[in-house]
Amino acid sequence: MTLAGKTVMVTGAAGGIGGAIADAFRRAGARLILVDVVAPSTTISGDRWVEGDLRSPDVVRAAVAAATEGTGRLDVLVNAAGVQVRKPSVDLTEDDWQRLVSINVSAAYALSRAAAQPLARTKGSIVNISSSAALVAQPGIVPYGATKAALTQLSKGMAVELGPEGIRVNAVAPGQIRTPMTADKLSDRDVEANLLSRIPLRRIGTAAEVADVVLFLASEQARYVTGTLIPIDGGYAAN
Ligand SMILES: NC(=O)c1ccc[n+]([C@@H]2O[C@H](COP(=O)([O-])OP(=O)(O)OC[C@H]3O[C@@H](n4cnc5c(N)ncnc54)[C@H](O)[C@@H]3O)[C@@H](O)[C@H]2O)c1
Repeated sequence: MTLAGKTVMVTGAAGGIGGAIADAFRRAGARLILVDVVAPSTTISGDRWVEGDLRSPDVVRAAVAAATEGTGRLDVLVNAAGVQVRKPSVDLTEDDWQRLVSINVSAAYALSRAAAQPLARTKGSIVNISSSAALVAQPGIVPYGATKAALTQLSKGMAVELGPEGIRVNAVAPGQIRTPMTADKLSDRDVEANLLSRIPLRRIGTAAEVADVVLFLASEQARYVTGTLIPIDGGYAAN
């Protein structure tokens, strides 16, 4: 799959999944605009970094401006920035909930809204990183799952509204993927064994396996695919 010459924005690009997505698009020849609240551990020449908290409208504006600067074009937006709060739902504080909603839903929505105009010019696409927690109740991350369900429905609805302009909007639902977000959970052998017993493919996934599907959804090969949610979970949500 080639995305040569395409301008691709990836949020959460300093993280596990966002970083792997950036690597995959870079290999496919895309020009990258990478956004994260933390600085990347290494920078690769040619990449354009926008460092900032996507809850700020100024950061959203700066990210779209960085993408469209010079060429005026944006071909792909991947919303991968996200946070998880692991607590029983009755124990979440109001701040925990606001953090989940404002980053996992509001920031992705704000960026999608701001990117719609440039994406219409290129007949581009959006890929949102949802979660298997949007499909299956996972005790300990229930409110997180609710924000991912909101993001999934936002993808579907925006696909319907933006389809006539040639913009495709899709989402993926990763299951158990080894990244900084899940490192502590998966380092617990009992937790890992319990999860593995519920994953038909009997292994934890990699960020690169998520990136492969995101690349497909953004590519010409998926030109008639919109409004979908693709699980990338070794069969976890089917179980
Ligand atoms: N790891 C998994 O098993 C898994 C499963 C399903 C879905 N996901 C989703 O995949 C996405 C990436 O997760 P990951 O596992 O790579 O986690 P991660 O913690 O490695 O990466 C998330 C990145 O988002 C960035 N971020 C958080 N808040 C931000 C903000 N306000 N503004 C800008 N950047 C912000 C973080 O700095 C971090 O670099 C998330 O949306 C997550 O919910 C992960």
